[in-house]
Amino acid sequence: MRVRTAVFPVAGLGTRFLPATKAMPKEMLTVVDRPVIQYAVDEAKEAGIEHFVFVTGRNKGLIEDHFDRQYELEKTLELRGKLGPLAQLQKEVPSAGHASFTRQQEPLGLGHAVWCARDMVGDRPFALLLPDMLFMGKPGVMRQMVETFEVTGGNVIAVEEVAPDQVGSYGVVARGAGPDNAFRVEGMVEKPKPDEAPSNLIISGRYILQPEIFPLLAEQRLGAGGEIQLTDSMQALMTQQPFVGVKYVGKSFDCGSKAGFLAANVAYALEREDIRNQFLDLLADRGIEASFTSIPQAAE
Ligand code: UTP
Repeated sequence: MRVRTAVFPVAGLGTRFLPATKAMPKEMLTVVDRPVIQYAVDEAKEAGIEHFVFVTGRNKGLIEDHFDRQYELEKTLELRGKLGPLAQLQKEVPSAGHASFTRQQEPLGLGHAVWCARDMVGDRPFALLLPDMLFMGKPGVMRQMVETFEVTGGNVIAVEEVAPDQVGSYGVVARGAGPDNAFRVEGMVEKPKPDEAPSNLIISGRYILQPEIFPLLAEQRLGAGGEIQLTDSMQALMTQQPFVGVKYVGKSFDCGSKAGFLAANVAYALEREDIRNQFLDLLADRGIEASFTSIPQAAE
């Protein structure tokens, strides 16, 4: 079955970015000149996703506005002959009926946010993208996952390697047989002690899940951190259905942390031909020597 729908949980409070996120959603923070949520939506589009479901909360109205037409602005751009930016704006708005918004009234955790999308997703597999993780890769990470899903079915999760002493901050998988782009996941554990971790492969914010996750989420109690955790329900689903890991080709940026967000800005600015040289000069003025490395590319 094709993956047509993607869920974007955007109802978190973004406390690590206060005061920036007091009135503005953290998903609207910009990396260069695009909000982080736009990168996740672009990645989903590239993977063939047609329906975008946003789980929003209070103070998140800007996200809805961002994915809507802005007639005054469009008219002004047209009158001023700025046809390039106009076409770009229009291209990025999902077509009518293909963006849906639902509310998570209280930020009870990622698992709860995903559960809030159950009626909009229905009875089909769906993609889940945590928008504060940005991925540079060619093709995009979700596309790499969809390619695997079309062969394996089941549930697919993107993983990446971290230094063994860092595993304690993440969900970690136990790797079974199979190649890097489609191996069997034999177990997962949330925030293990480094000496108890089954590997150094962490779950990194991109998933393709079967709808059977929803009844399991409905039963979940509060887990680690007083939140309803997605990993707990995935562990339960794993007893019924296969999970496949994709060690994606690419580079990730955790834009939920300040350092990761700043690193993303540097990396994405260096990718941009229109500002790269000027930006390199500014960095050099501060004695920083940055090198431009092109986007990691997956083998055909
Ligand atoms: P995070 O835990 O990184 O987001 O969740 P947060 O809670 O907003 O951030 P901090 O720790 O307070 O700074 C990852 C994604 O899941 C969403 C967030 O909006 C973010 O995009 N999320 C998280 C929800 O939609 N609902 C929740 O209850 C929790």
